[in-house]
Amino acid sequence: MIYLKTPEEIEKIQAACTLVSRTLGEVAKCVAPGVTTRHLDNVAREFILDNGGHPACLGYGGFPATLCIEVNETVVHGFPSGYELREGDIVGVDTVVELNGYNGDMCYTFPVGEVSPEVMKLLVTTKQSLYKGIEAAQEGRRIGDIANAVQTYCERRGYTVVREMCGHGIGRKMHEEPEVPNYGRRGIGPLLKKGMVICIEPMINLGSRNIVIMSDGWQCRTKDRKPSAHYEHTIAIEPEGPRVLTTFDYIAQALGENFV
Ligand code: MF3
Ligand code: CO
Repeated sequence: MIYLKTPEEIEKIQAACTLVSRTLGEVAKCVAPGVTTRHLDNVAREFILDNGGHPACLGYGGFPATLCIEVNETVVHGFPSGYELREGDIVGVDTVVELNGYNGDMCYTFPVGEVSPEVMKLLVTTKQSLYKGIEAAQEGRRIGDIANAVQTYCERRGYTVVREMCGHGIGRKMHEEPEVPNYGRRGIGPLLKKGMVICIEPMINLGSRNIVIMSDGWQCRTKDRKPSAHYEHTIAIEPEGPRVLTTFDYIAQALGENFV
């Protein structure tokens, strides 16, 4: 069942999305060599709580933290730990904030210091593919149009698309219908209607598309241990076109000239 949201509900989701966007802006200020991923998690949790939100990942299906941390070969759902970030790493930070009963979900993959040109290109391409997906999210088109836009953009550039994990609807619950895959044919899947709110989240690999899920049932890495990138926005389908409810602006402000 796909729940279409009223304009009032979309404003509530917008508020949650603004808070999650500001949260990742705070995290962005801290990403540097030598910083532990647990520190990033603490910063995010305190910021969310200080601003009246609820860290929705914490305890969700047993997930142990506020942030999903995705260092290098980690694709999704990594746990914060005592690992100290190193120059040349990439770290995806994915989280969901609940505010007044509605959720906002967002992910950004940060370069730590200087990363190799090859990995930087993976980041830029993955972020760009998210916007290609968003562009395709027009009322009257279908989920498959989003999926195909992401897939085509990435595969033409020599990258591979993770298939086991997808984007999703969002609202009162962090995961609602429909599923939003990052691969597939145009013209298939649920029709995009006014009031749908979905998360588009390409997970794109430098090597093969295969992944391995750890025995904890959460943490997921590339099979070949090559890097994987992940970006995510929450968007609403509106007659005027897709409305992006989350924003990378706070991250851009925090990173200054290092934002790419
Ligand atoms: N964006 C992630 C997802 O949709 C957020 C996961 S939070 C977790 O899967 F709690 F499930 F880890
Ligand atoms: Co998500």
